Amino acid sequence: MTNTKIIGTGSYLPEKVMTNEDWTKLVETSDEWITSRTGIKERHFASEGQATSDLVVEAAKEAIKDAGIDKSEIDLVIVATITGDNAYPSTANWTQKKLGLNPVPSFDIGAACSGFLYALIMADSLIKSGVAKTVLIAGAETMSKVINWEDRNTCVLFGDGAGAAVLRATDNGNTGILSTYWGADGNLGDLLIQPAGGSAMPASEETIANKLHTVHMKGSEVFKHAVLRMQEAATKSLDLAGLTGEDVDLFIPHQANMRIIEATIRRAKIPMEKTFINIDKIANISAATIPIALDQARKSGRLKDGENALLAAFGAGFTWGGAVVKF
Ligand code: UT7
Repeated sequence: MTNTKIIGTGSYLPEKVMTNEDWTKLVETSDEWITSRTGIKERHFASEGQATSDLVVEAAKEAIKDAGIDKSEIDLVIVATITGDNAYPSTANWTQKKLGLNPVPSFDIGAACSGFLYALIMADSLIKSGVAKTVLIAGAETMSKVINWEDRNTCVLFGDGAGAAVLRATDNGNTGILSTYWGADGNLGDLLIQPAGGSAMPASEETIANKLHTVHMKGSEVFKHAVLRMQEAATKSLDLAGLTGEDVDLFIPHQANMRIIEATIRRAKIPMEKTFINIDKIANISAATIPIALDQARKSGRLKDGENALLAAFGAGFTWGGAVVKF
């Protein structure tokens, strides 16, 4: 039976680092508040000329090299992002062009912070059904370009970056993606939304003056749903793989808030020592969070061949997703 193996990963963080201290000069906040309420200490921000696809390209080059393949072997590109270069063409199309890939199908997925897991699930399904063999997937965001720099409730929470992975068909059913789980609830869409710029509210002088092209979030309400859905994504993914928290070598949760992560691991019975944390260094990078963490975990030796990784994410939509992957 065909299964899907992650054969390479890569990640990229823009050079500019913005610390909590830097934010205190722009809005009424403190390092103490941001650290104690979220766990975030600093984040990376893209430069003015850097588009999201530029970040994807750097991460993808690394993932292709890590996979030891030639770029001509890639037969599908999926980019998960909510901060794409343009409404269209897709950021995946720009990535394909900038990397000089063959004219293979390329498209974006908009599932916010769950986007990379949605891309993983799509790629896994297309590989298992025989439609694709070698897929480049990425999660990438330039959140600094869509935050309201005057709203302390949201601006301090996000960062920029990209992570990528190369997925390939394998005949070994005991390795690779062992289970996936996903869901969504559009009824709660208004709780985390960028209101303007689409067909519901096209750009106008008023939308710009009212900063409606930026992140709007009812933080504490989102928090409650995030805790429940992260737990659901983690425990359901384990159930579907026939595993328990004890079988997990490394848990890679979406990094939106340290308190959400702590609540999730309590329920899934996974110790903190087996949980990958980088929120302090990179903050919440929406769809890029999981693939960046995955790459950092592999390259730092926290996740080795033969080990089980549990991935779980929750984001705007609301959307959520999980996966168990044996490396
Ligand atoms: O990425 C996936 C989806 N996103 C999430 O999962 C995020 C979920 N939400 C959260 O992580 C948290 O709700 C936040 C970190 C956003 C906020 O933490 P909170 O403990 O829920 O705080 P709050 O929104 O209830 O605000 C508490 C107080 C308020 O002051 P008052 O009204 O009590 O006087 C805020 O105005 O904290 C104030 N506050 C701040 N103070 C200093 C909000 N932001 C800041 C800030 N600095 N940056």
